[in-house]
Amino acid sequence: MKYGFFDDQAREYVITRPDTPLPWINYLGSDGFFSLISNTCGGYSFYRDAKLRRITRFRYNNVPADDGGRCFYICDGDTVWSPAFLPARTPLDRYRCRHGLGYSVFEGAKNGVSAALTVTVPIDTSMEVQRLTLKNESDQEKKLTVYGAVEWCLWNAVDDATNFQRNWNIGEVELEGSTVYHKTEYRERRDHYAFYSVNAPIAGFDTDRDSFLGQFRGWREPLAVEQRTSFCSVASGWAPIAALRLELTLAPGEEKTLLFRLGYVELPREEKFTALNVINKAPAHKLLAAFETEAQFNAALEALRTYWTDLLSRFTVRSSEEKLDRMVNIWNQYQCMVTFNMSRSASYYESGTGRGMGFRDSCQDLLGFVHLIPERARERIVDIASIQFADGSTYHQYQPLTKRGNADVGSGFNDDPLWLVACTCAYLRETGDFSILDAPTPFNNEAGTEVPLLEHLRRSVNYTVTHKGPHGLPLIGRADWNDCLNLNCFSLTPGESFQTCSNFESGKAESVFIAGMFVKYGTEYAALCDQIGLGTEAAEIRTQVAEMEKAVLAHGWDGEWFRRAYDAFERPIGSKDNEEGKIFIEPQGFCVMAGIGGEACGKKALASTERLLGNDFGIELLSPCYSEYHDYLGEISSYPPGYKENGSVFCHNNPWITLAWCKVRDGNAAFDLYTRNAPAYIEDKSEIHRTEPYCYSQTIAGRAAQNYGEAKNAWLTGTAAWSFVAVSQGILGVRPDYAGLVVDPCLPDSMAGCQISRLFRGTRYEITVRRGAEKGLTVDGQPIAGNTVPLTDAPLCRVTVTL
Ligand code: BGC
Ligand code: NOJ
Repeated sequence: MKYGFFDDQAREYVITRPDTPLPWINYLGSDGFFSLISNTCGGYSFYRDAKLRRITRFRYNNVPADDGGRCFYICDGDTVWSPAFLPARTPLDRYRCRHGLGYSVFEGAKNGVSAALTVTVPIDTSMEVQRLTLKNESDQEKKLTVYGAVEWCLWNAVDDATNFQRNWNIGEVELEGSTVYHKTEYRERRDHYAFYSVNAPIAGFDTDRDSFLGQFRGWREPLAVEQRTSFCSVASGWAPIAALRLELTLAPGEEKTLLFRLGYVELPREEKFTALNVINKAPAHKLLAAFETEAQFNAALEALRTYWTDLLSRFTVRSSEEKLDRMVNIWNQYQCMVTFNMSRSASYYESGTGRGMGFRDSCQDLLGFVHLIPERARERIVDIASIQFADGSTYHQYQPLTKRGNADVGSGFNDDPLWLVACTCAYLRETGDFSILDAPTPFNNEAGTEVPLLEHLRRSVNYTVTHKGPHGLPLIGRADWNDCLNLNCFSLTPGESFQTCSNFESGKAESVFIAGMFVKYGTEYAALCDQIGLGTEAAEIRTQVAEMEKAVLAHGWDGEWFRRAYDAFERPIGSKDNEEGKIFIEPQGFCVMAGIGGEACGKKALASTERLLGNDFGIELLSPCYSEYHDYLGEISSYPPGYKENGSVFCHNNPWITLAWCKVRDGNAAFDLYTRNAPAYIEDKSEIHRTEPYCYSQTIAGRAAQNYGEAKNAWLTGTAAWSFVAVSQGILGVRPDYAGLVVDPCLPDSMAGCQISRLFRGTRYEITVRRGAEKGLTVDGQPIAGNTVPLTDAPLCRVTVTL
């Protein structure tokens, strides 16, 4: 069953009813000011950092869910309704939500009045703009009372939700015309404020939540709205809000447009005030002036459209598969931008307060982003590397605002360092910009410790070399990619973090997964060394890689598949000899991608993977699921069977299997797996899958779970980047390389061919993939050997591949 449809022409998903199984959200903003917005106009905004600069309040775990956010009320006679259904919850005569790229539109209608609410964060603007157009579709004059309201968060979202003994004393606002300024803590150390404004004279306002809502009421039925009035309350402590009221008269057929603006301003300390505790509003005035008219708003929407048209034109495909095309050309790339911006910080499942920018997460997000805006990728790579320690290990996360490593989460995830090699090599192959390797990059952000970025990569690779266990395999540390495989933790205390606790540092537990990573990324590092004339170092690394391959084949191969790990007592995990957790997905993906054991092992491992882990939605993480908790395994066995790391389809590593199938040249198997969880392909199972049909979710409950097929953790997942890599570089086979663009499709038999357009180092490659007797590649009509199209200065290059 579906709750809407894809409009590919407009690059929108159109939701046709408000009661989607879960809130279906969108992201607004691309740098600085960000908003989450659901299909009923819920969500919140923040500036750069969802923990430290939260602008509007959102209650996770609220009942009813997704209440609050942007609250619009239209009072027409006895009826009060909201254009996006919430918060008023009055059944609408018409409802649609169109989520587009960087904007969302809500179209509601009730009793002869229609509303079109378009919300966006214009490019390079620290402000969300909400355009509300009301039209009288009836033949009677309409007198409408209209409210727009937001609830302020007191900046630090953790504090906001915990420190009430202080918070209920500090809330402050200022008023000026049709603008409410939120300035809590501005009197002392904050140099930033927010505002909410409308571009028309207001009839009244409220800034104190409890006055506006009235006792025993919520956002559904504020007292002020019920009475069609405003109390002109000025918040002093408690919960500051901004509620603006307007009175409109619409003749039959008449339409009026209002621009509501939610902005954020930072000021140099010495320019904060214009008088004692009176905030300097000049920057706000400037922002408002830029969005005073509809023409300005339309121009911003147009600029946004152009921005996305340009970005998305860097990689496009045209094929017989409509769903493939819409994933590749629109939604997968869009999600890659969102994961690049958010890492794992803020979604409807990530509270914005816990997990900032993950080291491994952000490195992997870059794999799907680097072709879009390489300059931003470059900056990110240096930021990430700056939380590395001198011994090559690294903090696991950092806060986007401060860019400092997060000590609460600590370090010791032994896969982390290698992901830096992965993303830097991806950047280099995409851009050829070797100057990044010279970028002075500190350790642990300490001034004076800067070394060239290349030295960080070197230490990353060496970290694995110098941290091996009894079988010559890499030590796992706190955990590897699988955060929940906590082999040195042994926690028996409720609530203890599995990722930081360690009661038994075995110095023995090893990861076959990291071994696979080392073979893959060690080889990539060696290739990089060759590029920059470090032949000796390349040879040394290749020797290490060969040794690791040997160790994997000796101790990591189980006969039919790759083992997962060795625990603290040197017992294998992910082996036929285990009762549960006999086979895991991760090493099958990485060891096969790395080519360990060649095609023979690869095909065997993948066949076992499909046979033992395959379900309708993809490949489960492990099987059989752990039926009880084991302290020697850690968090993985804490989840009920079929959920999360204990045997759900953890979507992030499914593309590894897709890529592994491509590695052994099985296009049918690769494509079949791709379609099992690509959102557009499962749109018609939305009542089961439940999360948004236009973005990947982290996890889909496995067969062992009660809610088999139900997804959770939409949006912020490494699935986005890896799926894009799998489909663009594996199935469609277009891979940037140092010497040129590799064109090596691995299509299923069901596809006769396709057209791919790829912008690469300033050249547009128009690639035709077709089937025919004369196999091979032509470049501008000339046959070439191999599958690397050499670099060229020409603006256009035509390539034909015959399969
Ligand atoms: C989740 C993982 C996550 C980890 C660390 C676990 O509960 O299942 O997916 O990576 O916490 O935050
Ligand atoms: C989510 C984390 O963000 C990611 O880093 C990790 O690899 C997966 N969980 C698997 O545990």
